[in-house]
Amino acid sequence: QTFKIAAIPGDGIGTEITQAAIQVLDKLAEVDGSFKFEYTNFDWSSKAYKERGWYMPPDGMAQLQKHDAIYFGAVGWPDVPDHISLWSLILPIRKDMNQYVNVRPTRILPGTRSPLSSCQSDPSTLDWIIIRENSEGEYAGQGGTTHENSPHTIATELAIFSRVGIERIMRFAFETAKARPRKKLTMVTKSNAQRHGMVLWDKVFYEVAEEYPDVEHDKMLVDAMTVRMVNNPESLDTIVATNLHADILSDLAAALSGSIGIAPSSNLDPTRKHPSMFEPIHGSAPDIAGKGVANPVGAFWSAAEMVRWLGQGKLDGTADKLMQAIENVTKAGVKTRDLAGNSNTKEVTEAVCREIGIV
Ligand code: NAI
Ligand code: MG
Repeated sequence: QTFKIAAIPGDGIGTEITQAAIQVLDKLAEVDGSFKFEYTNFDWSSKAYKERGWYMPPDGMAQLQKHDAIYFGAVGWPDVPDHISLWSLILPIRKDMNQYVNVRPTRILPGTRSPLSSCQSDPSTLDWIIIRENSEGEYAGQGGTTHENSPHTIATELAIFSRVGIERIMRFAFETAKARPRKKLTMVTKSNAQRHGMVLWDKVFYEVAEEYPDVEHDKMLVDAMTVRMVNNPESLDTIVATNLHADILSDLAAALSGSIGIAPSSNLDPTRKHPSMFEPIHGSAPDIAGKGVANPVGAFWSAAEMVRWLGQGKLDGTADKLMQAIENVTKAGVKTRDLAGNSNTKEVTEAVCREIGIV
């Protein structure tokens, strides 16, 4: 079986970690023997935009549609305003490809250290999956600016919440929680200060909860949630939140687990009519780009999730093999600087490839 992958390395360390992920994916396919990957490389990036004036060609979505999955590095560079780069590439892909779920697992990998003292004695106290609504809410892209360049400028940024949009993300979150050992879901909003969309979120959450009597559920306000994540990490398991809230909480989660460099994400179209997209949650990291020191673990973990999604149950063992290889490597102390190690991207990548051949 051949899986067609659209690779969009993007900018900065996005290109470095995508190259590393492809090396690891090819090694995994070679060792497994039952499938292979065929990549189409798309040079859609801020660098290309500066040269030719566009990120994605007019038929870009049609080109992506011909693939089984999209592997994405990161987009954004200091010489292009970030709202232009994000709205030219990653956000339109998530919307047009119906990727309304963004799954962000977080745990502490062996041989790495959480800044939380409670997790240092027992790393298993932090094991979360954040389910991010990925299609609407605060990132609906609605709003505008009036009286621009005057003291009376007004800019609006509308958060749009639809019942359909909320119901489908809640069902996905309850299903995710139900499939995990603790069967526990925490829903995050800010429905004390925001009276409409957030209140609808709360309402639909409790409605859908009735369909899942075996899943324990509770509700948090987002500000209190940041405190709970730090003070009481073991009290959380599966978390569902809006586009903006989950974006922020998942960076916090990554930092609490040791580094943003290890955190993966899956942008899923659960209907499978469009390709889903897999990417580490970090950005292009201009401060370390080009130095060969980026942590590729978040990219590898995202690749493992891609294999799991493509296999539809049949390649779970192969995805687990990749995770085991990653964990053996961190445990052995082969880590990049962000994890207090002294290896570079290439050394970590080669170590993971070697482990794939062994585990
Ligand atoms: P960032 O995630 O690129 O970097 C934040 C900090 O974490 C930096 O100090 C960086 O060196 C470090 N870091 C990130 N990934 C790392 C890795 N794999 N290994 C080691 N250290 C790592 O976030 P920042 O600086 O806010 O954004 C930079 C650019 O990336 C911006 O243009 C932003 O818009 C874009 N961005 C794009 C995303 C995407 O394509 N999905 C997501 C987040 C940001
Ligand atoms: Mg983010």
